[in-house]
Amino acid sequence: MSRGKISIAPKLSKNARTVLAKRYLKRDSAGQPTETPEDMFRRVAKTINAAETGTEKNKTNYEKQFLQTMSNLDFLPNSPTLMNAGRELGQLSACFVLPVGDTMESIFEAIKNTALIHKSGGGTGFSFSRIRPANDEVRSTSGVSSGPISFMRVFDAATETIKQGGTRRGANMGILRVDHPDIMDFVMAKRDLTILTNFNISVGVTEAFMDAVEKNQDYDIINPRNGKVVKQLNATKVFNQIIDMAWSNGEPGIVFLDRLNRDNPTPHVGEYESTNPCGEQPLLPYESCNLGSINLANMVIEGEIDWDKLELTVKLATRFLDNVIEANKYPLPEIDEMTKANRKIGLGVMGWADMLILLNIPYNSQDGIALGEQVMRFINEKAHEESKQLAKERGPFPNITGSIYEADPIRNSTCTTIAPTGTISIIANCSSGVEPLFAVSYIRQVLDNNKLIEVHPLFERIAKERGFYSPELMQEIAEKGTVQDIEAIPADVRRVFVTSHDITPNDHVLMQAAFQRHTDNAVSKTVNFSREATREDVATVYRLAYKEGCKGVTIYRDGSRDMQVLSVAGKD
Ligand code: CDP
Repeated sequence: MSRGKISIAPKLSKNARTVLAKRYLKRDSAGQPTETPEDMFRRVAKTINAAETGTEKNKTNYEKQFLQTMSNLDFLPNSPTLMNAGRELGQLSACFVLPVGDTMESIFEAIKNTALIHKSGGGTGFSFSRIRPANDEVRSTSGVSSGPISFMRVFDAATETIKQGGTRRGANMGILRVDHPDIMDFVMAKRDLTILTNFNISVGVTEAFMDAVEKNQDYDIINPRNGKVVKQLNATKVFNQIIDMAWSNGEPGIVFLDRLNRDNPTPHVGEYESTNPCGEQPLLPYESCNLGSINLANMVIEGEIDWDKLELTVKLATRFLDNVIEANKYPLPEIDEMTKANRKIGLGVMGWADMLILLNIPYNSQDGIALGEQVMRFINEKAHEESKQLAKERGPFPNITGSIYEADPIRNSTCTTIAPTGTISIIANCSSGVEPLFAVSYIRQVLDNNKLIEVHPLFERIAKERGFYSPELMQEIAEKGTVQDIEAIPADVRRVFVTSHDITPNDHVLMQAAFQRHTDNAVSKTVNFSREATREDVATVYRLAYKEGCKGVTIYRDGSRDMQVLSVAGKD
């Protein structure tokens, strides 16, 4: 890593500057930024470095390195760290899970805590499985219960009302176990697209359920109030209903609860019942996690992966994220305690699709999938090495006795997570997470109904270098949404510029599974389907994800929701 003068000015794209100015930089009462992006990186590096241990010389050194890695856009922490480090809020984590019990006190306590977390820029996940079903008995009032879905609407309304720290709206994950009596209503809950808009919902499925689906058998439905089996449902029927809803609007997703718990590093502390809003981070109730992602596009030097640079970046990022746990101001004492006892961090990647393009390897190829596995294995190993080194310097996480790491102390009970990187990939100007490119060029609606054609920077560069660039061609690509059948583009270029729509759902799942095999937590990934895909296609992918060891599945069939944030022109 270069130790030269740190300069970020030329690197940030126009989009990155706009996003930073709107939501990340300190602003005065008139809404004008009072710091530059460089000031922001300095503020973050300084605050995170304050948690450094060791000599003064060491500290100075790490502060420079933290600043350099962020300024180079080689590594970025999750948005709350960029926004809040060194500021009054000081809340640095993106992910939280809160417990919801079967009492009014517990439910409304969770809503209050959700408000506090959203205010600080974090997202919250909940399992509603402990809440007794609708129309069940309520002794204290001799009335009937409302059930988990109507309480979810209260969480949703609360979220709607609070803007996250004036920055982004709160996001929630709602999970219901597949053996809850209200499961069918839950599956159908988002049929009306205007309700639960602040929730992603997922069915928590068990291995027993998946087994019953395979065998077309009935399975037990249990009332959580008393643990009694109230009836049986046919597993295939429930599975088909989940598929039908996912096919028609992308929700519910599913999460494989037994799998999350099989990889729970601290089973003696508690059981996983939910993940964070985008599904990549399973957490125990009252746990939080801070994420950070390495920009893989910056790890390619002259057409080859620079493994030494990647190793240095992984180790520095691991140290950075461990420091974030100390520097963080937690919204609740319970979260402070739980987070510091398990010390979870989630290092992941962004720019994976860009890396493949730079290496001239198609995303949807065996080589691409094999390289995904190799890169993530390397990152996971190096992150664990560094966390073990940190355990020697700073001690292991306090809940280590009884955990899977008892014999081999480590500082962080999990090290790796693949986040969506929705905003930080815009700041780094790279493809998001481990997703393929969404489009090679697309039409962005700007103010006054004007349209702007945005072209993928690598494509633009190659097109200009090889002499086939023209504004008309970029327009044609934006309209078609794919370069695959445009003869004017050389075949070898078309081969690597595949987009999420060109890639089969199977290949999406295989890439997710390749990364999952070497990720402690989970992988954020959307499996894209064409508008013409059938329900059976969706069912096949759900089964494949299960077979391949994924921890959950999220799908989206093109055009199935009214409002798509980004849309490929002509397809919407
Ligand atoms: O790119 P950035 O760091 O902003 O976030 P991301 O990787 O897209 O999302 C990571 C996590 O942040 C999500 O899984 C949520 O837990 C949380 N999040 C949120 O609470 N609200 C949002 N609007 C976006 C993300």
